[in-house]
Amino acid sequence: MDSPPTRAARNRYTVPSTRYNGIESRGMQTFYIETFGCQMNAHDSEKVIGTLLSQGYQQVAKPDQADLVLYNTCSIRDKAEQKVFHRLDEFKRDGKGKVFGVLGCVAQQEGERIFERAPHVSLVAGSASYAKLPEMLVQLETGNRRVTGLSLDNDQAFDTPFTKRDNPHRAYITIIEGCDKSCAYCVVPFTRGPERSRTSESVLNEARELGRMGYIEIQLLGQNVNSYRDPSPAGWDFARLLRAVGEVDGIRRVRFTTSHPRDFVKDIVDAIDDHPALCNHVHLPVQSGSSNVLARMQRLYTREEYMRRIEWMKNARRDISITTDIIVGFPGETEADFEQTLALLDEVQYDSLFSFKYSRRPNTAALSLVDQISEDEKGRRLAIVQEKQRAIQIRRNSDLVGKIEETFVEGYNQATGQWIGRTSQNRTLNFVHPQFAAPREGATLSGTNLAGSGANLAGTSWSVRVTRAGPNSLAGEVVI
Ligand code: 5AD
Ligand code: SF4
Repeated sequence: MDSPPTRAARNRYTVPSTRYNGIESRGMQTFYIETFGCQMNAHDSEKVIGTLLSQGYQQVAKPDQADLVLYNTCSIRDKAEQKVFHRLDEFKRDGKGKVFGVLGCVAQQEGERIFERAPHVSLVAGSASYAKLPEMLVQLETGNRRVTGLSLDNDQAFDTPFTKRDNPHRAYITIIEGCDKSCAYCVVPFTRGPERSRTSESVLNEARELGRMGYIEIQLLGQNVNSYRDPSPAGWDFARLLRAVGEVDGIRRVRFTTSHPRDFVKDIVDAIDDHPALCNHVHLPVQSGSSNVLARMQRLYTREEYMRRIEWMKNARRDISITTDIIVGFPGETEADFEQTLALLDEVQYDSLFSFKYSRRPNTAALSLVDQISEDEKGRRLAIVQEKQRAIQIRRNSDLVGKIEETFVEGYNQATGQWIGRTSQNRTLNFVHPQFAAPREGATLSGTNLAGSGANLAGTSWSVRVTRAGPNSLAGEVVI
């Protein structure tokens, strides 16, 4: 076995490892991690990976190759929760010699019950405990078979210098963790605990550092970014923070997710109007078009109040793209309630939406509501929502044919020979480039300076004319 300093030195991170401290170790050297769920989870995994690398572990691409197998889990709907147990079942018999860990929302929700359901699991830790990950790893190393991190009384966001970012151009920054709302269907307040905001200084320092490192896009993350409140004396609200991040040198695009309509104020729309770097896209989950259902969901707004926010955006100087989330079949949703959701889609004309069948979640208020709706009926309503929205998107996207959009390149699609691009409105716009038909071997260029050959356009921006439109993406050609 390598000695720890040698392994640590092989990694980008050369901080001294706290792993050994002279204690006999179980010899874990490699880890594999799979992430389920939202962007918060994706970013948590980046921090977990950074922390593990800093401790001298090496990441591997397949669970078979790993000493430590981690699943960062999601429990937003039952289907998401079941995924981790399917994964763990695959290793029930032939997982000998490996250490298994369940992280994230299922870990927080199920706690020590996971050890009963999957006895080969040794680590169960929710996101509020990741700051203690190095200590938990030491416990695993020294042979502890049951290690838990389940406390939610952590008043700090999980802030680590060891984030291993997945994308060289776009970076996530957590600004607020947890959620203080109590939507009747939602498990998040139980899995991610109470709200904790980071100081504006800490957020801005991270944003500036990312700008210096060459990142061009930042996504501000939180379960409810709109209720951000700077805990330092500056006391900034979200709109103030957004404006400041929109002015950071080098950062060309700023996105944020997710928004709660109750806390969404007009100042956010004004900030988008004032700062070109703030993307003209807002994801504003409505969940239902019926005020009755919204009241039973404990969403704290009516349809009319939601529509007022939509009006702010439609009246903005910039063309703000609006997307949403819809839940169908919430307990007691009548046919008339459902019709109101369909009417809302017609009225708002969303550019895209995520739609879900209501799923019963542990601990939530909606569990006790009578009048649960059958799976068949939920499926019927879901199909209707999706069909209606598809027609809306086909129409809205085809209106863009002929328009020129600033497009940032995210990658290259070998199969179609197109560069994969994204517009400020968060639309996928794939395009061909006459001078750069494909990335070339060893290409490293970034920025818009493409002198010389060997170009990889990822991370560069182009004016692209839209030539074709589908329901979910656009295609075009670069304007030179
Ligand atoms: N059932 C179905 N969908 C849900 N969502 C959250 N909780 C549930 C649930 N219990 C959806 C909401 C939310 C999105 C992230 O997931 O639409 O906005
Ligand atoms: Fe899933 Fe919600 Fe947890 Fe994200 S916060 S991983 S969506 S349960």
